[in-house]
Parts: sequence; structure tokens; C-alpha cells
Amino acid sequence: MRIGVVIGSVREGRKGVQVGAWIAGLARQSIAGEVEILDLKAFDLPVYHDAVLPSAAHKVYSDPRVTRWSEAVDGCDGFIFVTAEYNHGIPGAFKNAFDLLGPEWLRKPVAFVSYGADSGVRAVEQWRPVVAALQMFGVRAQVSASTFAEFTDGKFTPNDRRKAQAETLFTQLTRAVRAVELLREDDARRTSE
Ligand SMILES: Cc1cc2nc3c(=O)[nH]c(=O)nc-3n(C[C@H](O)[C@H](O)[C@H](O)COP(=O)(O)O)c2cc1C
Repeated sequence: MRIGVVIGSVREGRKGVQVGAWIAGLARQSIAGEVEILDLKAFDLPVYHDAVLPSAAHKVYSDPRVTRWSEAVDGCDGFIFVTAEYNHGIPGAFKNAFDLLGPEWLRKPVAFVSYGADSGVRAVEQWRPVVAALQMFGVRAQVSASTFAEFTDGKFTPNDRRKAQAETLFTQLTRAVRAVELLREDDARRTSE
């Protein structure tokens, strides 16, 4: 099982890197499988502009940066989205990165770790119907941290409850990954027929 931890903010000085490293570190101790950080900034993705819809692209893209992104996402069985909240919603760069692909996300479970002035909960509520559009299974457990109360001198200092919340999230995510295996095998069989 390979879990991708997607760090979804790209601005200079972003807090997402620390939150992503924290949850990936815990996941590596807890999850029987591989945990890979997919940092959006490192992919330097273009704004989606192709004439071909991602759902019809058969994972073939004109821009090599999107191809690299496609391969990274395709190689994962489930995800932890590390999301900030911008203007009460999903950060634009993260939504763009999601929209760039189609079948690479399809039917894969996803869990959310959010942070923000209001702990990013509104961004997660927006994410849930978005991921459902690609039949992803959004697990209930989430971790939502306050950038005011849980950063000290610029360093992420999660409160005492976060570790237990993360463990519940890992349990629900890994169980969901195992549960959708059959569905995904069925998809692969039908598309190769
Ligand atoms: C453009 C922008 C809009 C923001 N809007 C909100 C908001 O609506 N609600 C909130 O709780 N925090 C908001 N914030 C604060 C962010 O949650 C906080 O700065 C967080 O660290 C951003 O994530 P990042 O550091 O990974 O970019 C906003 C930040 C930015 C840059």
C-alpha cells in the first residue's frame, strides 16, 4: 500500500510543509506500507489549459510536468490531503492540481489534514464533494489544526489530541484502501477488455 501525502500550498514560507512532514512522519510509523510526500511546489504545475479533458486523456498529457504529477498520483493507493484554507475555501493551486488529472484519483480513498486561522475546516468541507466527483472515498476522521494556537515561533506544535486523531485517520484510511481494492481491480479489468 502506498499513501501519498499531498502538500497543497505553494507560496513562499508556507506552513503546509511542516504540517505535511509531521503527518507523514506519523504515517510512516503507523501504516504498513510506503508513505510518499507529494509536494505541489516541487511539481511546478501549470494552470490547467488543455483542450483534452483529463477524464479523456488516457493519462497522456502535453506538459511533462503534468505527466510527472500523473505518474506520482497514479502510483498511490490512497492520499492524505494537507490543505490550508484560503478565503474560506480550497487553495486555488491545490484545486488546479486536482483538476489536472482524472483517472489517477478515481475510487481512491482520501483523508484530510487541515490547518488555518480557523483550522481549515471550511476547506475540508469544500473538498469532500469535490473528491466525491471522482468517486473517491473521503474518510470521516480528520485532523484540523489552528495556525494561531498550534504554531510557536513559526514552528508547528500540534496539541495533545492531534496524534490520537491522526491514528484514527490512518486506521480509517488504510481500511478504506483495502476495501476499495476490489472496485479498482474491477475497473482495471473492464478498461482492459
Ligand atoms: C490568500 C489567503 C487567504 C486566507 N484565507 C483564510 C481563511 O479564509 N480562513 C482561514 O482560517 N485562514 C485563512 N488564511 C490563513 C491561512 O490559513 C494561513 O496563512 C495558512 O498558514 C496558509 O497555509 P500556507 O502557509 O501553507 O500557505 C488565508 C491565507 C492566505 C494566504
